[in-house]
Amino acid sequence: MTGGVAWQQQADVIVVGTGVAGLAAALAAHRAGRHVVVLSKAEQTGGATATCYAQGGIAVVLPETEDSVEAHIADTLAAGAGLCDPDAVESIVADGYRAVTELVGAGARFDESAPGRFVLTREGGHSRRRIIHAGGDATGAEVQRVLDRAAAALDIRGGHVVVRVLHDGGAVSGVVVVNADGLGVIHAPSVVLATGGLGHLYGTTTNPEGCTGDGIALALWAGAAISDIEFIQFHPTMLFSAHTSGRRPLITEAVRGEGAKLVDAEGDPVTAGIHPMGDLAPRDVVAAAIDARLKATGDPCVFLDARSIAGFESRFPTVTAACHAAGIDPVRQPIPVAPGAHYSCGGVVTDVWGHTELPGLFAAGEVARTGMHGANRLASNSLLEGLVVGGRAGRAAAAHAAAEGYARARVPDPFTPTALARAELQSAMSRDASAIREAGRLRRLADTLRAGQSRTPASRADFEDVALTLTARAVVAAALAREESRGCHRRAEYPDADPDQARSTVVRLAGDPDTVRVETPVPVC
Ligand code: SIN
Repeated sequence: MTGGVAWQQQADVIVVGTGVAGLAAALAAHRAGRHVVVLSKAEQTGGATATCYAQGGIAVVLPETEDSVEAHIADTLAAGAGLCDPDAVESIVADGYRAVTELVGAGARFDESAPGRFVLTREGGHSRRRIIHAGGDATGAEVQRVLDRAAAALDIRGGHVVVRVLHDGGAVSGVVVVNADGLGVIHAPSVVLATGGLGHLYGTTTNPEGCTGDGIALALWAGAAISDIEFIQFHPTMLFSAHTSGRRPLITEAVRGEGAKLVDAEGDPVTAGIHPMGDLAPRDVVAAAIDARLKATGDPCVFLDARSIAGFESRFPTVTAACHAAGIDPVRQPIPVAPGAHYSCGGVVTDVWGHTELPGLFAAGEVARTGMHGANRLASNSLLEGLVVGGRAGRAAAAHAAAEGYARARVPDPFTPTALARAELQSAMSRDASAIREAGRLRRLADTLRAGQSRTPASRADFEDVALTLTARAVVAAALAREESRGCHRRAEYPDADPDQARSTVVRLAGDPDTVRVETPVPVC
């Protein structure tokens, strides 16, 4: 045993996470001939990832349609409000059809109007119908099903919580893991973070359990840069409940794409006169319009009236089931909805191959910031990015491992970052760092977050709490530094975008495991 470490193992490539990006990466690295170990903190692997809950679909330009890669790029850049990296957007969008074709080759079944002709729907911010879907509104479940099946032969380990990425300052050498056998080390030259998002920073979210900012914290502790982390997307239409916290069902934007209307309790339209695309404006615009209406009326929710949609139950079976479970019949009554924490547009800074600044550390999917989403992700671009960049990151990680060979990690001294109790953190974040922010509230929140207790991350719950707390500090620091409103980040005292702030900022660890600082520019990976 070394420094309290009960077990040690070895791999070429470690992938942390089993959603679309993680499994795409693992499969690609495996096909490249590397020994891949996939780690998940969930006891039961297979399903229950954020991928699994994705409803709307995958945004992709199909050949021989009126759509074009240029139009998809233009819509992505417009939604991103000046902060996308146009080269990253082009690279990922242009590779979408190839990635989807590969998934279909692996057995994915998307909804078709005739054999070989995918049905296309529309979502907020898209100028065309370009969203393919499966099972009506169960696209993510189909993607997860196919990837889980393809990955069945891989070494996938549940109940493994990665608590540190090991490195010598110049390159990655493995991870520290907590599992039922205690603290262990897996030595490896390549580590791919595909840990998903951070929705559980807030009291209600569309994200499943486990979306606790793990990859953000792991990357910060490893010395890597985080960017665009202030841009947390609130989905406009999370199913409202006055009494339930934690994960709440999503009502996919595709419901609006098929004609449903957003109205307030009086039946008045919510987005009238706000944006030329109305209820199908980009997500940040619609969420802000709902927020403003709720503040003006004092109501807790608005309503999505989908009663005009023919065949609603067969087109949207997942939404129908969620409504029924809540005692709502969407065919006969408007659905109560409110904005809910949904997606982190920023994350660990990477290029479009998943490379971070630290050789051997890769990131893909929601945890990564490739420059694809800027200040606001375009709907259904996330499964696309996860598939494309996940696969590329797996290939890059395999190539790195082949070039570097066996890595032997030095086991670091134990460390005890601080954490706030989860309920306290979620309530403070929901109160002071939701869709509309303001300096005084953000400063109060920063003070609250400074007051955490020392915690050794020796269990899943402990690790999640320290990860949430450090991630919250990063969000708040970046939100305070951005004195303007842009995309998903809205400041009450600065209602407009400021052209001088049309650049991404970076958050890094500043010395100890609890303190972050904001800087520019974004590093080139
Ligand atoms: C939705 O179906 O509205 C969500 C899709 C997404 O987050 O891109």
